[in-house]
Amino acid sequence: MSMDFPQFRKLEGAPNLYIIEGPKHVTEWQPMGDGKWVVHQHYASDYPRYQWVTELLQGDDPVRALTADAWEALYRERSEASADPAPGRMPWPPMRSPWQEEAAVGPLTTFGAAGHAQCLAEVASDADVRWALEDRGELPLMVLGGGSNVLMHRDWTGRMLHMNIRGVQKIADDGDAVEVVVGAGESWHAWVMHALDAGWNGLENLALIPGSVGASPMQNIGAYGVEVKDRFAWLEAIHRETGALERFDAERCAFGYRDSVFKQAEKDTWVIVRVAFRLQRSAALNTHYGAIQAELQTRGWDAGTTHLQVAEAVMAIRQSKLPDPRDIGNAGSFFKNPVVSKEAFERIQREHPEVAHYPAPDGKVKLAAGWLIDRAGWKGHRRGACGVHDRQALVLVNHGGATGAEVWALALDIMADVESKYGVRLEPEVNQVGL
Ligand code: EPU
Repeated sequence: MSMDFPQFRKLEGAPNLYIIEGPKHVTEWQPMGDGKWVVHQHYASDYPRYQWVTELLQGDDPVRALTADAWEALYRERSEASADPAPGRMPWPPMRSPWQEEAAVGPLTTFGAAGHAQCLAEVASDADVRWALEDRGELPLMVLGGGSNVLMHRDWTGRMLHMNIRGVQKIADDGDAVEVVVGAGESWHAWVMHALDAGWNGLENLALIPGSVGASPMQNIGAYGVEVKDRFAWLEAIHRETGALERFDAERCAFGYRDSVFKQAEKDTWVIVRVAFRLQRSAALNTHYGAIQAELQTRGWDAGTTHLQVAEAVMAIRQSKLPDPRDIGNAGSFFKNPVVSKEAFERIQREHPEVAHYPAPDGKVKLAAGWLIDRAGWKGHRRGACGVHDRQALVLVNHGGATGAEVWALALDIMADVESKYGVRLEPEVNQVGL
């Protein structure tokens, strides 16, 4: 069936409203009688749910197909004018949480460099996203998730959407493997811990990575030998121009090292609204990284280790090396680890036999940017309010009050110095806003 989404529906004789977001996804709007609504997400991957969505789609008696305007009129009739969005209760359209003008967005980023957005709206549902995509459509648009991978160079002249779609829903379970759909606005680390608590294993190496679930596939986050792509099932995203919801499988995401189609060919084209993961109760542990092995040994956990223990070891390692954004502003690794040709690597290794490196695809070699920056003498370097972290040279930090321009000036000097010493050009990993 080819059809445009969303589709709007109402059941005759009942107050509930429905938005069919896609061929297998329906949001149900249940009025609570006090002018507020509870929104239920239904994913129809199997019978009889699939049958139900198909019937809704056909719009046969007793289901009535509505235009978006008629749907909204019914919605408004039952909404309290001043309804406050409470957890699990979302207004639609978010007329009552309008744009916040000249919003300070520095505090929404982990780097904490000061900056404002011309207007900012928090979006908590697909419908909110569509509203915000259309409203003030003449202004450029930026989507902010957990704010852990951006550096604000200057104020953002345009609309900024702060992603806050929540929810965790298991949609398939064969007794071992599960498929779980997670709202893009959930915190990444909270989701990892939730999954481990539920016995859904496989994300333990990715504990304590700052940021949101929706941002995780954009740059295919990774740590200690695991990347998001290894546990990814699919994601859904709304097209910025058409408002259409589409589902992306791993192939369409074109995942690479800290990379995906959302940073390349389809940059600024989609708003990711939810991500589904495939996890396994019996997932094999991935503890081959030296740092994890050492940490497990120190704790006497090297035999019979659990997934949760691996997560705890990972958290301990990260806490010992990486600054906590609550204490000191940063965005994790500021640069990507550069991938160089075998010849370039051999040239560097002749001069620096101890250079940290890993094999990369196509016979290339990945160098540790942290090692290069460290050996170039930058570790712990401080310049005004910004600097290089003293325990991990790959991380630039804001000691308090640094501007994006100051951090960037430091980054450029580091890049020039590393290039002159090693002939290697570093590439920032952090998204630069307004550069
Ligand atoms: N090193 C130094 N000095 C330093 C930092 C690192 O000599 O100041 C050396 C280390 O001794 C080691 C090598 O460089 O031999 C690699 O260091 P580390 O294991 O700390 O990892 P990384 O390459 O610096 C990458 C990811 C991290 C991820 C870790 C662990 C990137 C850009 N960074 O860092 O991800 O947590 O591996 O898997 O790929 C992030 O992306 O924000 C991030 C923190």
